[in-house]
Amino acid sequence: MAPEPSLASLLLPFILSLVLATSVQSSREGFIHCFDLHSKNDTTLSHILYGPENPSFASVFDLLVQELRFATPTTPRPQVIVTPLDETHIRSAIHCAKKHGLEIRIRSGGHDFEGASYKSEEPFVILDLFNLNSITVDVENATAWVQSGATLGKLYYEISKKSRTLAFPAGYWSTVGVGGHLGGGGYGPLLRKYGLAGDNVIDAKFIDVNGKILDRKSMGEDLFWALKGAGGGNFGVIVAFKIKLVAVPENVTVFKVSRTLEQNATKLVHKWQYVAPSIHEDLTMALRIKNVKSSQAGKQTISVGFESLFLGGADRLLSLMQEKFSELGLVREDCSEMSWIQSVVVLAGIFPAGAPPEVLLNKTAAPKQYTKQKADYVEKPISVEGIEGLWKVFFKIDPESGGMNWTPYGGRMSETSESETPYPHRARNIFMIYEAVYWKKKDGAVSQRHIDWVRKLYKYMTPFVAKNPRSSYFNYRDYDLGVNSKGKTSYEEASVWGVKYFKDNFKRLAKVKAKVDPDDFFRSEQTVPPLFGECGTSLGK
Ligand SMILES: Cc1cc2nc3c(=O)[nH]c(=O)nc-3n(C[C@H](O)[C@H](O)[C@H](O)COP(=O)(O)OP(=O)(O)OC[C@H]3O[C@@H](n4cnc5c(N)ncnc54)[C@H](O)[C@@H]3O)c2cc1C
Ligand SMILES: *[C@@H]1O[C@H](CO)[C@@H](O)[C@H](O)[C@H]1NC(C)=O
Ligand SMILES: *[C@@H]1O[C@H](CO)[C@@H](O)[C@H](O)[C@H]1NC(C)=O
Ligand SMILES: *[C@@H]1O[C@H](CO)[C@@H](O)[C@H](O)[C@H]1NC(C)=O
Ligand SMILES: *[C@@H]1O[C@H](CO)[C@@H](O)[C@H](O)[C@H]1NC(C)=O
Ligand SMILES: *[C@@H]1O[C@H](CO)[C@@H](O)[C@H](O)[C@H]1NC(C)=O
Repeated sequence: MAPEPSLASLLLPFILSLVLATSVQSSREGFIHCFDLHSKNDTTLSHILYGPENPSFASVFDLLVQELRFATPTTPRPQVIVTPLDETHIRSAIHCAKKHGLEIRIRSGGHDFEGASYKSEEPFVILDLFNLNSITVDVENATAWVQSGATLGKLYYEISKKSRTLAFPAGYWSTVGVGGHLGGGGYGPLLRKYGLAGDNVIDAKFIDVNGKILDRKSMGEDLFWALKGAGGGNFGVIVAFKIKLVAVPENVTVFKVSRTLEQNATKLVHKWQYVAPSIHEDLTMALRIKNVKSSQAGKQTISVGFESLFLGGADRLLSLMQEKFSELGLVREDCSEMSWIQSVVVLAGIFPAGAPPEVLLNKTAAPKQYTKQKADYVEKPISVEGIEGLWKVFFKIDPESGGMNWTPYGGRMSETSESETPYPHRARNIFMIYEAVYWKKKDGAVSQRHIDWVRKLYKYMTPFVAKNPRSSYFNYRDYDLGVNSKGKTSYEEASVWGVKYFKDNFKRLAKVKAKVDPDDFFRSEQTVPPLFGECGTSLGK
């Protein structure tokens, strides 16, 4: 017979949680006190520090939670939210969090797919950079300084205010933050002509774990290299990037046409794989694939949207399409000539037709959704049978719930080496895939059914996509790939997910980490661990 449990052992979990809660509270109080001291006479402090007792705490927290799966009462809340107005506030936050045993999560736009910028199992502080959003455009030199808390929409808008023929090659959605996006690569409709956002970063302002403010020159080329594709959360706080602007014509041409299975979508998708990655780099023709209700009651079909940006006029585009992809049947009425900034509004896909460029400044324009996303890269065209099998997978989930975007590579993406930036997915690929599922109800069973489905889709794609490793995109963060263990994680352990995002660059990133943040202060479920020494061991310094 088992001995009776003692009262003490029954109470132990309760006592432990009480002790823990008390120590967390004292960490919070210690942090706030420390921050106060550091900020000396700052009367604006009430707009910089938000503890849970502050009436604005919930709204400040929620504002940039883009993923509804994490907008629930059970999502752990930070001890404090800090919204710095300048670098001294960032330095104080780092110093005081270190001193009082709190983790830091850095948030720019809050679009992280796994909520890495505002979610932690450990007691933590959010460093929310939304006030640091200034942008200075230098038309003469075709450069700009942009602070991390700015959105892509604001960046595009400010560029367009200064010039109709300058642009920046970054993502489609205007509400995405500069800090995470540029720091993780960042692609959009200018990718085939100009590469990734990170490829066009030429300087950075960065604050390290010791509060040192560094630029490209003082940080050195290794860290600077790391920030251009693996900067998000790994090394310290990126305050601003200096970027190279790129040339676009006064007018560009946009078309968005869609075809269903009844309109030969399968054949068109098959042919697209041969055309889109090799056609002139002025054209980026992306696919938006979803399952929709068909005209036959109770049945579904597939809708494939061909959404394109062409850096030139409609005449040249039409003759190019006639020559290379006449099967699509593109006609002049499908094509609209417009300024680049207007193309940004149209291609974002979240604004009504004819909306003015000012909508790009709306930080809450993007609908918040329940989603789960994944990424893949494709090296060889998928067969017609493979594509038909894919449609069958789509029919297993409710209409309008499944989605895939296929983004053609080639052009500049093929001309850049795998080690040029941390983002290694370059010449070998003909296109990249974004796999997603969307749902509308908070209900746990509904969520699980949808998440299970996108995992099934991912499994189905296995034979068709890059292996060795099965690759993924750091900006499409996916904890299914593996996460660090609590406390210290070895380089070998983290490599499970790390090489999927970064391939051979992962090792260099881990060595940079050892130099910049040797105690692994900036750590989370998927951060690069420090790798010390040359022989591949992460023990000792
Ligand atoms: C609706 C939607 C549309 C998207 N569209 C595209 C697209 O078209 N193209 C594309 O490439 N990607 C796209 N993404 C993915 C997007 O690029 C990434 O989620 C990106 O990391 C978001 O940046 P953020 O600043 O908004 O995110 P955050 O959640 O704030 O940050 C993301 C990560 O970076 C870290 N981080 C943030 N700021 C800093 C900083 N200043 N210093 C150091 N670390 C920091 C965070 O801690 C976190 O780990 C999209 C995402 C969503 C939700
Ligand atoms: C603090 O602020 C008060 C009033 O604004 C001012 O008189 C004082 O000199 C300030 N002290 C310091 C250390 O800046
Ligand atoms: C362009 O760059 C040069 C050299 O860095 C600089 O001196 C000049 O001020 C810049 N132009 C503008 C308009 O800022
Ligand atoms: C660009 O389009 C505008 C109308 O939208 C037109 O007035 C202008 O002439 C065009 N510019 C060029 C270079 O084609
Ligand atoms: C589909 O393709 C066939 C032959 O390739 C063609 O005859 C037919 O017109 C196409 N249908 C549509 C709707 O384009
Ligand atoms: C921003 O967009 C949201 C969602 O469409 C809308 O509700 C809100 O009114 C917009 N804000 C402004 C200032 O236009």
